[in-house]
Amino acid sequence: MPEPQTNTPWWREAVVYQVYIRSFRDGDGDGNGDIAGLRSRLAYLADLGVDAIWVNPWYPSPMADGGYDVADFRDIAPMFGTLAEAEALIAEAHDVGLRVLLDIVPNHTSDQHPWFRAALAAGPGSRDRDRYIFRPGTGADGAAPPNDWRSVFGGEAWTRVIEPDGSPGEWYLHLFAPEQPDLNWDDPRTRREFEDILRFWFDRGADGFRIDVAHSLIKQEDLPDLGDRFGLLPSIDHPHWDRDEVHDVYKGWRRIADGYDPPRVFVAEAWLDDPERMARYVRSDELHTTFNFVFLIAPWRADAIRTAVARSLAEQNAVGAPVVWVLSNHDVARHVSRFARDQAELAGFSLDDIMDRPADLELGLRRARAAALLMLALPGSVYLYQGEELGLPEVEDLPPEHLTDPTWRRSGNTVRGRDGCRVPLPWSGDAPPFGFSTNDDATPWLPQPAGWHERTVEVLDGDPDSILTLYRAALHLRRELPALGDGELAWLDVGGGVLAFTRAPGFACVVNFGSSAVELPVDGRVLLGSDPRVGEGLLAPHAALWLHTTG
Ligand code: NOJ
Repeated sequence: MPEPQTNTPWWREAVVYQVYIRSFRDGDGDGNGDIAGLRSRLAYLADLGVDAIWVNPWYPSPMADGGYDVADFRDIAPMFGTLAEAEALIAEAHDVGLRVLLDIVPNHTSDQHPWFRAALAAGPGSRDRDRYIFRPGTGADGAAPPNDWRSVFGGEAWTRVIEPDGSPGEWYLHLFAPEQPDLNWDDPRTRREFEDILRFWFDRGADGFRIDVAHSLIKQEDLPDLGDRFGLLPSIDHPHWDRDEVHDVYKGWRRIADGYDPPRVFVAEAWLDDPERMARYVRSDELHTTFNFVFLIAPWRADAIRTAVARSLAEQNAVGAPVVWVLSNHDVARHVSRFARDQAELAGFSLDDIMDRPADLELGLRRARAAALLMLALPGSVYLYQGEELGLPEVEDLPPEHLTDPTWRRSGNTVRGRDGCRVPLPWSGDAPPFGFSTNDDATPWLPQPAGWHERTVEVLDGDPDSILTLYRAALHLRRELPALGDGELAWLDVGGGVLAFTRAPGFACVVNFGSSAVELPVDGRVLLGSDPRVGEGLLAPHAALWLHTTG
């Protein structure tokens, strides 16, 4: 890896590019993205100016939940390649200056994982069952589930098994799909296994892990009913989210990561709406960073964004951690499409929250360009979701027969779910698969809209006003400007739908959330603007500017 230029640990200010591998690029012509496809585009990512990639799960999996149902944590799904290719990818990424983060899924395994198969075969009361959360049912003949917990994907969080003797038997817990049984983290074997999996990948050069549902894992021992407390964003003292005991797990993981040279890092996925609870995950002896979903779910309004930014900075900085800013990922509707809607109320973050509201995609794209400049100017680290540099919108009209998200099935075909943000990337050409595959006749695993010929890398690359050109310029400037990255900001109190802050030395970011041009509240030379047509001293509507200030 190239030598760091400052003493700041890289992860405090890294821009990490999220690779949803099945949709990034197909290198073997079968319509599914894979490691070969990713290796063929490492130069594109290095040139874009990101510091690292995070690869969504690539392990063997029946794909009941997009690979988050892992059947073997120490191998690669044949659809994506081989372990040897994974090792080559990590080495090649390092050669072009990119670090590699992987995805670890400690809350659950696939129901095809050898542990779960053994648990089913071994029967009630066995040591194998203890690795998961099996309980007898309630009611007559145990025909009702052990408690009222619900799956995040809809329906009950419990499934009843047929015992080896053919009789209806115990129930097992799955906070997600039935194909994703929850592990029992009170069992020391679970803890040992995951520590060993970390070492397996760290030994192969992985620079760190994104931790899936990091706030889950531990369940209250007596599994009490939830009553009215169902929801993704938990309340304090929730029986299965954000239990205090989970922090011991991560203290152990941190010791392992710190034992490597260079030390490995973690980023937590913890959907908490309380920045104070979130900050607990990033105390100095725990995880390094945690995604800041408070920012992601804030509506695109000056007041809401300022509150989200200020609160997040205050809470994370209080424990010495940088904030991780993120606008999109593989679980939420792409932000161009969220921002295309009226932002008076909480925007909603899933397709199903927003799809009934009128959309103005041109406005969504303008706001997305401004949001990119805002986010990349904030103190801390940033995660970009593949395709946001192309301004891709959510694909809202995927034909139902293509929908794979478990929510679709479990909601009785009423909640479309997350496939619309996972459509394979358009790289080049006039028709699908738009260079996504090495095979021009390949059928991408999710259909790409015909209009995406305008959003290919090939087209945007040559356009000085394109969003791709904007991202690239911003990422390169971010590396050059000492004011950006880790550090602090100072708000300018300007009001009127405008947000402005300065960062030392000599930098200001101004964002106009309104629909008419405003006078710039600060003097300076324009470094970069999300709307290239701004007049002298003015900021266009729905636009952001980076300025070099002398003050
Ligand atoms: C969060 C992941 O990002 C999501 O895609 C997955 O469905 C759940 N965790 C369950 O693993």
